[in-house]
Order: sequence, then C-alpha cells, then structure tokens
Amino acid sequence: MDTIKFANGKQLPLEMHKVRIVQKLGLPPVERRLEAVNEAGNNTFLLTNRDIFLDMLTDSGVNAMSDNQLAAMMVADDSYAGSATFTRLEDKLREIFGTQFFLPAHQGRACEHILALTFIKPGNVIPMNFHFTTAKAHFTRMGGVVEELVVDEGRKPVSDFPFKGNFDLDKLRALIKKEGAGNIPFIRIESGTNLIGGQPLSLENMLAVSKIARENGIITVIDASLWQDNLFFIKKREEACRNMTTREITRAMADAMDIIYFSARKLGAARGGGMCMRSKELCERMKELVPMFEGFLTYGGMSVREMEAMTVGLEETMDEDVISQGPQFIEYMCNELDRQGVPVILPAGGLGCHLDALRFLPHVPQTQYPAGALGAALFIAGGIRGMERGTISEQREPDGSERLAEMELLRLALPRRVFTLSQVEYAIDRIVWLFRNREIVGGLKFVEEPSVLRFFFGRLAPVDDWQEKLARRFRADFGESL
Ligand code: F0G
Repeated sequence: MDTIKFANGKQLPLEMHKVRIVQKLGLPPVERRLEAVNEAGNNTFLLTNRDIFLDMLTDSGVNAMSDNQLAAMMVADDSYAGSATFTRLEDKLREIFGTQFFLPAHQGRACEHILALTFIKPGNVIPMNFHFTTAKAHFTRMGGVVEELVVDEGRKPVSDFPFKGNFDLDKLRALIKKEGAGNIPFIRIESGTNLIGGQPLSLENMLAVSKIARENGIITVIDASLWQDNLFFIKKREEACRNMTTREITRAMADAMDIIYFSARKLGAARGGGMCMRSKELCERMKELVPMFEGFLTYGGMSVREMEAMTVGLEETMDEDVISQGPQFIEYMCNELDRQGVPVILPAGGLGCHLDALRFLPHVPQTQYPAGALGAALFIAGGIRGMERGTISEQREPDGSERLAEMELLRLALPRRVFTLSQVEYAIDRIVWLFRNREIVGGLKFVEEPSVLRFFFGRLAPVDDWQEKLARRFRADFGESL
C-alpha cells in the first residue's frame, strides 16, 4: 500500500500494524551520553543498550515479529533430526522460490563460509555488484579476489536512478572475457545492496546477469538477505513488474539464480539463514559442510522456534503491506532530511537512512574518520546509535597505510516495524540540529586498533575537546528539557 494522504496535504507513511508488546526505553541526559560514548571508545558497537534511546545500529535480528510468528514459535517441534518444523520451513521455501533443496545455516555469513569453502580456489575472481563485509572476508580468506561491478550511478551519493544496485553488464562481460569463465567460480548478486545504502537491482538486470552467466557456464548466487526491500522497490519502480504479484517477481528472480542464500536475521524477520537450490548436484557439493560447521541437516545451528518464526516471516514477506513499511519510513526520513539541507544518500533505499559524512562534515579530514565522528556526535546529540560505514570499516593496506573508503556513511537502520513516526521525527530533529551545529564536530583518532575487524572492537578518542563543546551547545539550546 502507498503512503497516506492527509487532509492537511501531508503524505505520510502509516503503520499497518498495532503494537501489542512494548519495551521500555530511557533517554539519558546529554552529560551521560557524552560519558557513555567515551566509555565505548567512540565506537557505537561498544555502547550498551541501557544508554541508548534509538538503536539504529542494524536491522539484523532486531525486526519486530508478528503475532503469528510468535504463535508459531510455540508449536515448534524440537528434535535433533527430522523435525516437523524443518519440513514446514523447507516446504515454504519450495513454495516461494520453487527450489527443491534447502541447506540450513545459523546465519548469513555461515552460508558465505560454506560457499567459499566449496567453490573458491586461490586466485579465483568473484564478480559482484558490491561487496558485503562478511562475504568479502570469507571469499578473500580462501584466496579469492572480489571485483565490484556496480553501475556508476551506484557510487554517486545523490542520483535519481531507481536501481543503483544494478550490475554494469559491459563490465561483467569484459571481466569474464579477461579472466575466462574457468577462473570465476560464481557471480554473487546482492539484493538490496547493503553498503551503498540498501540500493536495489532491477529484475531486468538480474535476468541479464543470469543470461550472461548461463551463456558462460558460470553459477549465479544471489544474496537475498535484503530481498524484501528489493522486492518492494521492483514492484514500485520497475514498470514491467507493476502488474506482477510479489510472488511472481520472487519466482522470476529465483528461476534465474542457481543458489539463493540469505540471513534470516533480515529476510523472514527471525534469526538464522540458509541456502536454496534447484540442483541436487550443487546441494550435494555443499551438504557435508553443514553438519560439520553448523548442525545437523534439519536445523543447521538454528533453534526450532526461530525456524517456525522464519516460515511465517517468509510468508509475510509476500505481503506488500508488510514489506512496504521499512522503505516508506526510510523514504520519509531521507526526504525530510534532504528537504532541510542534510546530505543523505538518495534515492532512499532499504535497511536505513544513510547520512553522507563527507558532505555533512567537509572540514573533518578522511584520515580523522568523518563517519565515525558523526556517529559519536549523533549519539551525544540524541542518544541515537548508528553504524559507521566508512574508512573505519575498511582494513589497512598491507603496508599499514590507511585505505580511505569511497563513501563515508553513517547508517541509521530502521529495523522493520520497530520505530513509530514520532521516534523517526525525533531522529530527524536531532540530525538537523547537529547539521546546524556541524562546525563544532571534529575528528577521531584510534587509541586501540585491532588488526582485523577494527570497526567491531577498535577504540577511538576525539582529536580535541569538540565533544564537550557539542554537549554544552546542546545544553544551551535545549536547557533542562531533554
Ligand atoms: N549479506 C548481507 C547483504 C548482509 O546485510 C548481512 C548482514 C549478511 C550477508 C551476513 O548475515 O549477519 O546473518 O551473518 N548484515 C548485518 C548488517 C550484519 O548489520 O547489515 P549474518
């Protein structure tokens, strides 16, 4: 369903659900927020929930579940092997994707681990529209080289191109020609392309990639973790799909792919993951790794309750009202911020709203991590936790020099059906306030820098006393009223 037109002329997203279970939130005063962000080494991963008002770190495993999902969890059939719960999940995946075989895994990156172990040899090249951190880590760990082939529009922060996650098909053909199909174990297609702002691919583009792959005898692997958002955008933005149902679009996507894997922390609004395929041979190649690393073939490391919730969640993903919620709230947030001059990634994608820190804080050099600094500043300004997706999330070059990210983004995820419109309005208000006071915000420097995955564990400090100044300005503007 579309956003609702109000008599006062406003066009607003409308919650298509009622809230029946709630969790109390606290909003600590600005002085405590300043203290907490420093206790956390200015790394939002290290904050603790009791200090956080709006947790916009991720949409992973924190989406609101429906009454039917919770009810289904109570009838879960717990057994090590042959559980009826697994059969129900397998049947649902067959129905939706038309794929005969399903291998369960405890979450998305576990699928990437199995894919990497099965298919990748040192020196292999894996083309993809854009990398995701865990996929890249697993593929490069096996000696693979990741090639990103997203269209140029995908790398532009602001554009009116509706499918910024599309592959550049000419680049794909050229890469296959250069490498030879034999050196390409598979093409990875990421739906709802996470790291460029949750941007979708068109069905047309997916079909074209699949055609090129099939002509060259290369396997296609889609990461469907963010399929629900991508599906919604195809339905809304792709002319040729306007009259197709969500099921028809999903089936057309699935028919074009050899392997579909997903994080059920996103797709299916539960916790877990797995891989679907039509080919028995492909299934057999990966099958034995599941009991070795994940768990027996009928649970793969997941709890049966989560599998029941996932089965219902997958069915609900076919409901346009359900999948419209995330993108519509995100679009509202992005467009409001844009209207007030705040630099955001446009058009709005799925997953969350992405602030463009390079334009938000042009005075902070990239070596002082503008996206990380913006994350710390927004926490001070509003108790809002985002996720740095910029240079801190990169790894240093082998010679120890800093690898500057192409984009410096602060991701503000909107877990599905979790926040109300007034909470989104609050976030917008604090971001706008911060933007008006942006000259106060300075950079960060590492004080503890782990050699791997530094964005998870690293600790940073402000380069000077800008955070105290920001807290004082906040106190002066908002007084005692928090
Ligand atoms: N692929 C995509 C596109 C993802 O966004 C994620 C996780 C994964 C794979 C890995 O799945 O977490 O279940 O192992 N994204 C989370 C995020 C972590 O915050 O965006 P996982």
